[in-house]
Amino acid sequence: MLNKETKEFQMTAKTFHGLEEVLALELKKIGAKKITKAKRAVYFSGDKSILYKSNLYLRTALKVLKPIYSFTAKSEHELYKKVKKVSWSTYIDLNDTFLVDTTISQSKFFNHSKYVSQKTKDAIVDQFRDIYGRRPSVNRINPKIRVNIHVNHAEITISMDSSGDSLHKRGYRVHKVEAPINEVLAAGIVLLTNWDKKITLKDPMCGSGTILIEAGMIAKNQAPNIFRKNFGFMFWKDYDLKLFQKIKQELINNEVELLCNMEGSDYHYGPISASRKNISQVNLSRSVKLKRFNFFDQKKISEKCHIIFNPPYGERLEIKDPDFYSNLGLTLKKYYPSSSVWLITSDLEKVRSIGLKPSKKISLYNGPLECNLLNYELYE
Ligand SMILES: C[S@@+](CC[C@H](N)C(=O)[O-])C[C@H]1O[C@@H](n2cnc3c(N)ncnc32)[C@H](O)[C@@H]1O
Repeated sequence: MLNKETKEFQMTAKTFHGLEEVLALELKKIGAKKITKAKRAVYFSGDKSILYKSNLYLRTALKVLKPIYSFTAKSEHELYKKVKKVSWSTYIDLNDTFLVDTTISQSKFFNHSKYVSQKTKDAIVDQFRDIYGRRPSVNRINPKIRVNIHVNHAEITISMDSSGDSLHKRGYRVHKVEAPINEVLAAGIVLLTNWDKKITLKDPMCGSGTILIEAGMIAKNQAPNIFRKNFGFMFWKDYDLKLFQKIKQELINNEVELLCNMEGSDYHYGPISASRKNISQVNLSRSVKLKRFNFFDQKKISEKCHIIFNPPYGERLEIKDPDFYSNLGLTLKKYYPSSSVWLITSDLEKVRSIGLKPSKKISLYNGPLECNLLNYELYE
């Protein structure tokens, strides 16, 4: 899996369903090669600098994995034997803590991801014990090294997880509200809407400010994980601190000035206060105007803007007002002529009462929830 001449190797970036295309474009932008889209993942190749850059800069990746060994296995015993063929001391130190995570796409040979993880862990620790008489320990909460197993039928891929914690954990969400949108999904949505980064961006139901923050970072070309302290690769034996610092500095040097206005509102005080605190974490306070405001109280015709929001979902935040979507449609029609409106919702039935014809409908997932990203182009 390593090309010895170019020092390039294969990697897999995992994402949400529906964001594969945007992720592939992001990978192209950072100079990744051999980019191939798959289901909830994009395969690519590159060297160590691409690995570091992908963790710092990709907005729509949840994890970046480095495959180290692939094989077929049709039983737990076969899996155990083949996992033992990897020279584990290349990747894990005796004093490291580690954890094995497994995802099973589909397989008649393996049904339980926990059991596959357990067998893999057994093979790893048994190899250490055989050679050194000691073994590294497992840490389920904060392991230094994460090993990822992917099972597809009888095809098993072992990867080292270069991200550690999921990349949606940017580190800026110091204050939460109920039902915040996932950061990776929010970034993906902003990218899918093709916002020109000049026209005012508005989130009229901003909650904790995730969409505003991700949009602001996109407009500033700010790497989403530039403030994050830890990545899995920092605990790898081949970690190159100088290279990492160089890449981080290059990304900071590539930031640009924000050229647009951004506005967020919410009818509760709590979310506005949370947004304010979160936005300050990424140095966007001066660029985002926040106010407590009920969207349905709009009385003035708004200038043309780019609106992105996720209204309360039936499943996660109950919508008490039966006329919520029809009021939303009326407000948008009356006060937002010539604006481009994008909303994500899992209320696929209720949203119909908005009374506007979507120009685009994109299927996405917010965690396990099936959602639609709907676009309404409004005209005067
Ligand atoms: C699903 S949450 C948004 C979450 C947000 N995207 C985040 O990441 O934190 C929906 C938000 O809409 C707000 N909201 C609901 N109805 C509203 C209205 N009529 N006007 C303004 N805000 C409203 C709620 O207070 C809630 O914070």
